[in-house]
Amino acid sequence: MPATDTIPMPDHFPSRRARVATPRRFLMCEPRHFDVTYSINPWMDPGKPVDAELALAQWTALRDLYRSLGHTVDVITPVPGLPDMVFAANGATVVDGRVLGARFRHVERTAEGPAYLSWFTSRGYRDVHWPEHINEGEGDYLVVGRTILAGTGFRTDPRSHAEAQEFFGLPVIGLTLVDPRFYHLDTALAVLSDDEVMYYPAAFSAGSRAVLRELFPDAILADDRDAAVFGLNALSDGRHVLLPEAAAGLQRKLRDRGFEPIGVDLTELLHAGGSVKCCTLELRS
Ligand code: ARG
Repeated sequence: MPATDTIPMPDHFPSRRARVATPRRFLMCEPRHFDVTYSINPWMDPGKPVDAELALAQWTALRDLYRSLGHTVDVITPVPGLPDMVFAANGATVVDGRVLGARFRHVERTAEGPAYLSWFTSRGYRDVHWPEHINEGEGDYLVVGRTILAGTGFRTDPRSHAEAQEFFGLPVIGLTLVDPRFYHLDTALAVLSDDEVMYYPAAFSAGSRAVLRELFPDAILADDRDAAVFGLNALSDGRHVLLPEAAAGLQRKLRDRGFEPIGVDLTELLHAGGSVKCCTLELRS
């Protein structure tokens, strides 16, 4: 055997990792009252008609896809008059069975905070915290292993980061978003495994880009095209990465690292500035 065959590839080499899916529990909210009746991000144009039936069909396909991959999906009853409630990621942050409630920046969404929180209390969650500072749930809080990445700049108040750290007892690392198209952290960065992420560098301030390089030197970087089709609004179970199907470049990069990308069509929900991850709140017990 030639000697070179015996040279092992380093274990940490990303593409050599075995990609193992772990079953997850998600909370989702059917877009029964979905519409674009106001504009609180650059994607929303209330003048453009929304196809409610198509939105519901696309959402249902995502829910069924999660279930077919072995994940559990709980649902919360949508409330009339709250068209953005479909974006369950914003409803709370749940780690170790502890629930940090959401407090929304815009008055159009404020009623969603208590609606989500009462779902948790009615389900027997006991460690539920009504927040003092504005935070938009998993829109801005993303869990990577035992660390929480926390967005600010548009929605979540940076003072909430200290509140979350105190509540969860986990390190919270603040990251500043600077491009209004990527107004939540989950529109600019996706968690792929316990120590891997992909992100769009231009969405972050220079200091936050440096922090991300320091923490994740091997991260997958999204280009302008993938970011513009919301490709970072993705959900990984450790092996399958569900992401907007138009993000072709990211799908290639994910495959190169041994992940199994699955393109999802949620274009109707993109009219409100949301996609895969926005529709999905992970319930970590
Ligand atoms: N229209 C909603 C908003 O602007 C979309 C929320 C998307 N959710 C998310 N997790 N990024 O608040």
